[in-house]
Amino acid sequence: MSFHPQMPYGTPQWHRSERVLADEGPPFAFTPENRQKLEEIASHYPPERRVSAVLPALYLVQEQQTHLTGNAMAHVAEVIGCSRAHVEDVASYYVMFFTKPVGKYVLQVCRTLACALNGAEHVTAELCRQLGVAPGGTDAAGEFTVMEMECLGACDRAPVVMVNNEHWHECQSPEAIQALIRDLREKGVAALTGCHHTKE
Ligand code: FES
Repeated sequence: MSFHPQMPYGTPQWHRSERVLADEGPPFAFTPENRQKLEEIASHYPPERRVSAVLPALYLVQEQQTHLTGNAMAHVAEVIGCSRAHVEDVASYYVMFFTKPVGKYVLQVCRTLACALNGAEHVTAELCRQLGVAPGGTDAAGEFTVMEMECLGACDRAPVVMVNNEHWHECQSPEAIQALIRDLREKGVAALTGCHHTKE
Protein backbone atom coordinates (compact mmCIF):
# COMPACT_ATOMS: atom_id res chain seq x y z
CA MET A 1 0.00 0.00 0.00
CA SER A 2 1.41 3.35 -0.97
CA PHE A 3 0.09 6.85 -1.47
CA HIS A 4 2.42 7.02 -4.42
CA PRO A 5 1.17 5.04 -7.43
CA GLN A 6 4.60 4.49 -8.94
CA MET A 7 6.75 4.00 -5.84
CA PRO A 8 5.36 1.21 -3.64
CA TYR A 9 6.82 1.05 -0.17
CA GLY A 10 9.69 -1.35 0.27
CA THR A 11 11.07 -1.25 -3.27
CA PRO A 12 14.84 -0.96 -3.50
CA GLN A 13 14.85 2.36 -5.38
CA TRP A 14 13.31 4.06 -2.36
CA HIS A 15 15.50 6.69 -0.82
CA ARG A 16 15.64 5.78 2.84
CA SER A 17 17.98 5.98 5.76
CA GLU A 18 20.31 3.03 5.77
CA ARG A 19 23.84 2.36 6.80
CA VAL A 20 25.88 2.85 3.65
CA LEU A 21 29.57 3.16 4.25
CA ALA A 22 30.96 6.11 2.36
CA ASP A 23 34.08 5.85 0.24
CA GLU A 24 37.14 6.98 2.14
CA GLY A 25 37.77 9.72 -0.41
CA PRO A 26 40.82 11.97 -0.48
CA PRO A 27 42.34 13.35 2.74
CA PHE A 28 39.98 15.90 4.28
CA ALA A 29 40.33 18.86 6.62
CA PHE A 30 38.04 21.83 7.11
CA THR A 31 39.19 25.04 5.49
CA PRO A 32 40.26 27.61 8.09
CA GLU A 33 36.99 29.50 7.43
CA ASN A 34 34.83 26.43 7.97
CA ARG A 35 36.81 25.40 11.04
CA GLN A 36 36.22 28.86 12.45
CA LYS A 37 32.51 28.59 11.68
CA LEU A 38 32.39 25.21 13.41
CA GLU A 39 34.13 26.55 16.51
CA GLU A 40 31.67 29.44 16.64
CA ILE A 41 28.72 27.02 16.41
CA ALA A 42 30.25 24.67 18.99
CA SER A 43 30.67 27.60 21.39
CA HIS A 44 26.87 27.69 21.75
CA TYR A 45 26.92 24.27 23.45
CA PRO A 46 28.30 23.46 26.90
CA PRO A 47 31.87 22.16 26.50
CA GLU A 48 30.83 18.69 27.67
CA ARG A 49 28.15 18.64 24.92
CA ARG A 50 30.44 19.72 22.08
CA VAL A 51 29.46 16.53 20.25
CA SER A 52 26.03 18.12 19.70
CA ALA A 53 27.66 20.20 16.95
CA VAL A 54 28.01 17.10 14.77
CA LEU A 55 25.02 18.03 12.59
CA PRO A 56 26.29 21.51 11.64
CA ALA A 57 29.77 19.99 11.20
CA LEU A 58 28.38 17.54 8.63
CA TYR A 59 26.56 20.37 6.84
CA LEU A 60 29.86 22.23 6.65
CA VAL A 61 31.51 19.18 5.07
CA GLN A 62 28.78 19.14 2.42
CA GLU A 63 29.26 22.85 1.78
CA GLN A 64 32.94 22.22 1.32
CA GLN A 65 32.83 19.10 -0.88
CA THR A 66 29.12 18.32 -1.64
CA HIS A 67 29.06 14.90 0.07
CA LEU A 68 30.41 12.97 3.03
CA THR A 69 33.41 10.67 2.72
CA GLY A 70 34.99 8.37 5.27
CA ASN A 71 37.95 10.71 5.69
CA ALA A 72 35.64 13.70 6.18
CA MET A 73 33.66 11.88 8.86
CA ALA A 74 36.90 10.85 10.58
CA HIS A 75 37.96 14.50 10.59
CA VAL A 76 34.61 15.59 12.03
CA ALA A 77 34.98 12.96 14.78
CA GLU A 78 38.44 14.26 15.59
CA VAL A 79 37.51 17.94 15.79
CA ILE A 80 34.20 17.32 17.58
CA GLY A 81 35.67 14.82 20.02
CA CYS A 82 33.70 11.64 19.43
CA SER A 83 34.13 8.32 17.65
CA ARG A 84 33.96 7.97 13.90
CA ALA A 85 31.18 5.40 14.44
CA HIS A 86 29.10 8.08 16.18
CA VAL A 87 29.51 10.45 13.21
CA GLU A 88 28.66 7.66 10.76
CA ASP A 89 25.55 6.77 12.78
CA VAL A 90 24.32 10.36 12.55
CA ALA A 91 25.20 10.66 8.87
CA SER A 92 23.45 7.43 7.96
CA TYR A 93 20.29 8.30 9.94
CA TYR A 94 19.43 11.61 8.29
CA VAL A 95 18.46 11.69 4.62
CA MET A 96 19.87 15.18 4.10
CA PHE A 97 23.40 13.84 4.33
CA PHE A 98 24.83 12.37 1.15
CA THR A 99 27.42 9.61 1.07
CA LYS A 100 27.68 9.66 -2.72
CA PRO A 101 28.55 12.61 -4.96
CA VAL A 102 25.54 14.79 -5.81
CA GLY A 103 25.00 17.56 -8.32
CA LYS A 104 25.36 21.26 -7.70
CA TYR A 105 21.58 21.39 -7.30
CA VAL A 106 19.85 18.68 -5.27
CA LEU A 107 16.13 18.73 -6.07
CA GLN A 108 14.09 16.87 -3.48
CA VAL A 109 10.48 16.23 -4.42
CA CYS A 110 8.07 15.51 -1.59
CA ARG A 111 6.03 12.37 -2.23
CA THR A 112 3.98 12.26 0.97
CA LEU A 113 0.17 12.37 0.96
CA ALA A 114 -0.65 16.03 0.21
CA CYS A 115 2.02 16.25 -2.48
CA ALA A 116 1.19 12.82 -3.92
CA LEU A 117 -2.49 13.79 -4.21
CA ASN A 118 -1.51 17.01 -5.97
CA GLY A 119 0.64 15.40 -8.63
CA ALA A 120 4.13 15.09 -7.15
CA GLU A 121 4.81 11.99 -9.24
CA HIS A 122 4.26 14.03 -12.41
CA VAL A 123 6.78 16.59 -11.18
CA THR A 124 9.30 13.82 -10.46
CA ALA A 125 8.63 12.19 -13.82
CA GLU A 126 9.17 15.49 -15.65
CA LEU A 127 12.39 16.15 -13.75
CA CYS A 128 13.68 12.66 -14.52
CA ARG A 129 12.66 13.00 -18.17
CA GLN A 130 14.35 16.39 -18.55
CA LEU A 131 17.56 15.32 -16.85
CA GLY A 132 17.73 11.74 -18.13
CA VAL A 133 17.97 10.21 -14.65
CA ALA A 134 16.00 7.92 -12.36
CA PRO A 135 15.01 9.11 -8.84
CA GLY A 136 18.21 9.25 -6.80
CA GLY A 137 20.31 9.91 -9.91
CA THR A 138 22.54 12.76 -11.03
CA ASP A 139 22.57 14.05 -14.59
CA ALA A 140 25.52 13.48 -16.89
CA ALA A 141 26.81 17.03 -16.38
CA GLY A 142 26.86 16.59 -12.61
CA GLU A 143 24.57 19.61 -12.21
CA PHE A 144 21.30 18.16 -10.92
CA THR A 145 20.40 15.34 -8.55
CA VAL A 146 16.76 14.25 -8.20
CA MET A 147 15.51 12.67 -4.98
CA GLU A 148 12.14 11.82 -3.53
CA MET A 149 11.60 12.77 0.09
CA GLU A 150 8.98 12.52 2.80
CA CYS A 151 6.96 15.52 4.02
CA LEU A 152 8.85 18.80 3.67
CA GLY A 153 6.47 20.67 5.97
CA ALA A 154 4.64 22.84 3.43
CA CYS A 155 1.69 20.53 2.78
CA ASP A 156 -0.78 23.37 2.12
CA ARG A 157 1.30 24.39 -0.91
CA ALA A 158 1.76 20.93 -2.40
CA PRO A 159 3.49 19.64 -4.37
CA VAL A 160 6.75 20.92 -2.96
CA VAL A 161 10.31 20.71 -4.28
CA MET A 162 13.17 21.65 -1.95
CA VAL A 163 16.48 22.66 -3.53
CA ASN A 164 19.79 22.26 -1.70
CA ASN A 165 18.10 21.68 1.68
CA GLU A 166 17.24 25.34 1.80
CA HIS A 167 14.88 26.68 -0.87
CA TRP A 168 11.25 25.55 -1.04
CA HIS A 169 9.56 25.81 -4.42
CA GLU A 170 5.87 25.25 -3.82
CA CYS A 171 2.71 24.50 -5.85
CA GLN A 172 4.90 22.82 -8.45
CA SER A 173 3.76 21.29 -11.72
CA PRO A 174 5.62 19.72 -14.66
CA GLU A 175 5.57 23.13 -16.38
CA ALA A 176 6.85 24.95 -13.28
CA ILE A 177 9.66 22.47 -12.76
CA GLN A 178 10.69 22.76 -16.42
CA ALA A 179 10.94 26.52 -15.88
CA LEU A 180 12.97 26.07 -12.69
CA ILE A 181 15.50 23.82 -14.45
CA ARG A 182 15.75 26.26 -17.33
CA ASP A 183 16.23 29.19 -14.92
CA LEU A 184 18.85 27.34 -12.88
CA ARG A 185 20.79 26.64 -16.06
CA GLU A 186 20.55 30.26 -17.17
CA LYS A 187 20.79 32.19 -13.89
CA GLY A 188 22.33 29.77 -11.40
CA VAL A 189 21.45 30.23 -7.73
CA ALA A 190 19.68 33.52 -8.55
CA ALA A 191 16.84 31.33 -9.86
CA LEU A 192 16.20 29.95 -6.36
CA THR A 193 13.35 32.28 -5.54
CA GLY A 194 11.31 29.96 -3.31
CA CYS A 195 10.83 30.31 0.44
CA HIS A 196 14.15 30.09 2.28
CA HIS A 197 15.41 28.88 5.59
CA THR A 198 16.68 31.84 7.55
CA LYS A 199 19.95 31.13 9.30
CA GLU A 200 19.17 33.49 12.17
S1 FES B 1 3.10 16.26 2.16
FE1 FES B 1 4.48 17.32 0.86
S2 FES B 1 5.14 18.96 2.11
FE2 FES B 1 3.90 17.79 3.44
